Amino acid sequence: MAYDKVPDLKMPLPGPKAKAVIEADDKFISPSYTRGYPMVIVRGRGLAAEDVDGNVFLDMTAGIAVNAAGHSHPRVVKAIKDAADNFQHMSGTDFYYPVQSTLARMLAERTPGEPDRKVFFCNSGTEAIEACIKLARWKTGRPWLISFIGAFHGRTYGSMSLAASKAVHRTRFAPLLPNVIHANYPYPYRAAPHLDTPEKVADDCLRYLNDIVFKKLVNANEVAALFVEPIQGEGGYVVPPDNWLPGLREMCTKHGIMLVLDEIQAGMGRTGKFFAHDHWGIEADIIACAKGIAGGMPLGAIIAKSEIMQWPPGTHASTFGGNPIACAAAVETIKLLDEELVDNAAKVGEYLKGKLEAWAKGCDRVGEVRGKGLMLAVEFVKSRESKEKDPALRNAVEQTAFKRGMLILGCGENNIRFCPSLIITKEEADKAVEIFAASVEDAMK
Ligand SMILES: Cc1ncc(COP(=O)(O)O)c(C=O)c1O
Repeated sequence: MAYDKVPDLKMPLPGPKAKAVIEADDKFISPSYTRGYPMVIVRGRGLAAEDVDGNVFLDMTAGIAVNAAGHSHPRVVKAIKDAADNFQHMSGTDFYYPVQSTLARMLAERTPGEPDRKVFFCNSGTEAIEACIKLARWKTGRPWLISFIGAFHGRTYGSMSLAASKAVHRTRFAPLLPNVIHANYPYPYRAAPHLDTPEKVADDCLRYLNDIVFKKLVNANEVAALFVEPIQGEGGYVVPPDNWLPGLREMCTKHGIMLVLDEIQAGMGRTGKFFAHDHWGIEADIIACAKGIAGGMPLGAIIAKSEIMQWPPGTHASTFGGNPIACAAAVETIKLLDEELVDNAAKVGEYLKGKLEAWAKGCDRVGEVRGKGLMLAVEFVKSRESKEKDPALRNAVEQTAFKRGMLILGCGENNIRFCPSLIITKEEADKAVEIFAASVEDAMK
């Protein structure tokens, strides 16, 4: 059943039942999670999320860019139920089942470039990155890996070692994976007087790789892979200059380095194309996917050129990876993406960005509105002139929006991200901007 009114708050937050759940949670759940506000969900439909006390919120997070088709889309739910009725698990490591190869074919066919690709299934983003590290090293026989400042690739040892978005992710966990070098990601808005266009910022970062990394730190022919998010996610929804990914592609091809694109947050239609790197007309050697792939079910996948994914039996596997229920949900989600959701992400994403930009013109505390499709962020600063970051205002906006019935999350140091389900309508986008504007007013009081 859909909700007539979204948002619909019935009491000051958190309500009594939410308080009780949070109390139990505090007692038994690991404190390492990063809950920003007391949202205790019990039910969702589309972009509506209902809490345990019956309050209804407008969900502009999609569970951190996951529920591509919204909460409990009837077709995804049916696919899950039908699959569960047949069998729940058999382990794709040791047995065959049809939905795995069906889904692998669908992913291969939607990958930019030749569809001659092979797919390895796992359960999450971080597992996909671990698989990419192993495959790149196995294929090349080389030890070194390159990734970028601001990147987030996950929280297990390999992916954490590649990540560099927040020190807390790595603090007290060393020793990390050795042989990882972090280079600069081109933040277009950091243009300085001598780098006065985004393209020059990207050229400068490419030059650093060539002149510093490959000359002073490691020989390029010892580098297995370069990991990059086509649009940085946790780092702040940073869209790179147009010459960045083509420049990296050329560099990787020249040195026989695997170009690994982390499409975990930006992929699966979110930016208005099935894979974000398609905006720049490049091909990856290996792609990591998770998040939106299975409409909310846990699933990860890596997609590699067939000539690259030639590792023999036993080199890599996963008991649960490619679970049949998750794969069935993914097949249905991809059908929905094809039918309308990728186009909708492009269309409503542009509309939402336009509305946010128009609103931002009247607010001196917004540095920039950025992003592509439904991967959008608003950056908060002390003033537009100073460009000084204002994380406190960003944090306050997260809270005031919650109190007004909208779920949003931060990214980077001082940005709010909008990553709603790809089914969002223009009316819902209007509502989101209206609540957001009022929440910023509240936060500035
Ligand atoms: C770009 C990117 N890579 C990897 C990950 C890790 O995914 P997971 O949390 O499923 O391990 C994330 C999660 O936010 C991500 O945004």
